[in-house]
Amino acid sequence: MSTDGQILLVGFGNMGQALVRGWLNNGRAAASVRVVEPAASARDIARRLGVFANESVAVALADFRPDVVVLAVKPNQIGSALAECSTKVDATTVWLSIAAGKTITALSEGLGAKAAIVRAMPNTPAAIGKGMTALVANAGVTADQRTLCTDLMAAVGAVAWLDDERHMDAVTAVSGSGPAYVFLLIECLERAAIDLGLAPALARQLALATVSGAAAYAAVADAAPAELRRRVTSPNGTTQAALEVLMADDGLSGLMTRAVRAAAERSEQLSAA
Ligand SMILES: NC(=O)c1ccc[n+]([C@@H]2O[C@H](COP(=O)([O-])OP(=O)(O)OC[C@H]3O[C@@H](n4cnc5c(N)ncnc54)[C@H](OP(=O)(O)O)[C@@H]3O)[C@@H](O)[C@H]2O)c1
Repeated sequence: MSTDGQILLVGFGNMGQALVRGWLNNGRAAASVRVVEPAASARDIARRLGVFANESVAVALADFRPDVVVLAVKPNQIGSALAECSTKVDATTVWLSIAAGKTITALSEGLGAKAAIVRAMPNTPAAIGKGMTALVANAGVTADQRTLCTDLMAAVGAVAWLDDERHMDAVTAVSGSGPAYVFLLIECLERAAIDLGLAPALARQLALATVSGAAAYAAVADAAPAELRRRVTSPNGTTQAALEVLMADDGLSGLMTRAVRAAAERSEQLSAA
C-alpha cells in the first residue's frame, strides 16, 4: 500500500470485514487498524486477523489517533456512530463513509461544516477484492486524504472519483445494485439451459463460467464490448439468432435502461428521506 495512515473502522459487518481483509492482503500493518463493533462475534473475527477491536470508541481511541475514520455501519446506524465518534477525533481526520444514500450534507450535519468527508459507494464483489467503488469528496478533503481513501478502497477492487455528488444515484443504480442484475442474468441463462434439457448442475456451470469468462475477457480485450459481440456473431449463425431476440425493440437494451433508471430514482428518493 502506497499510503500509510491510521484507520478507525466503525462497523465490522460484511463490508467492514471485506475492507480489513483487503487492507491486510495488500500489506497494511494490522496495528494501523482499529475496529469498533458492538457484536462480540465480529470483534472475535477482527482479533483473529490480528486487529484491535472494541465496542467502545473511547477505548479504541484512548491511545490511537486515526488519520481516517471509515464508517461502515448501516445507513440507519450512521447518526449514532457519528455521535459517538465526532468529538473524539482530531479536526484533521478524514471521514470515509460507505453508507448507501447518506449524502455529504447529511454527514456534515453530524460532523460540522469544516469536516473533511469522502462518500464512497462500493459493491458486493469487494468481498473477493473485485469490487467497484465510486468516491466523491467535499472541499475540505486534501490531496493526501484523497490518496489515502483511494488506497483504502482500491484494496477491494477498482475505484473511480466523481466530481459531482449528484452522480452517486446513477453510480448506485449501475455498479452498486448492478451485481444483482448480473446474478439475475446468470439465473436466467441457467433456467434457459434447463429448459433446453440440460441437467441443473451443468446448466449452472455453463451459465456461471460464461458470464464470468465473458466479463474477464471483455475487461482485458483490445476492443469495446459491442465490437467483441460483433466479432462472435457470424451472419445467420446461432449467436445472431439469439441477438435478434435480445436486441429487438422490446429487448434487453430498453429493459436495462428502464431498470437502471428505476434504481437511480429510488436512490434519489432514499437519499432525500
Ligand atoms: N454489503 C454491500 O455489498 C454494500 C455495498 C455498498 C454499500 N454498502 C454499505 O456499507 C455499509 C455496511 O454494510 P454491511 O453490509 O457491511 O452491513 P452490516 O453487515 O450490517 O455491518 C454493519 C456493522 O456495523 C455494526 N454497528 C452498528 N452500529 C454501530 C456503531 N454505532 N458503531 C460500530 N459498529 C456499529 C453492526 O452491528 P449490529 O449488527 O450489532 O447492528 C454491524 O456489525 C452500509 O451502510 C451499506 O449501505 C454495503
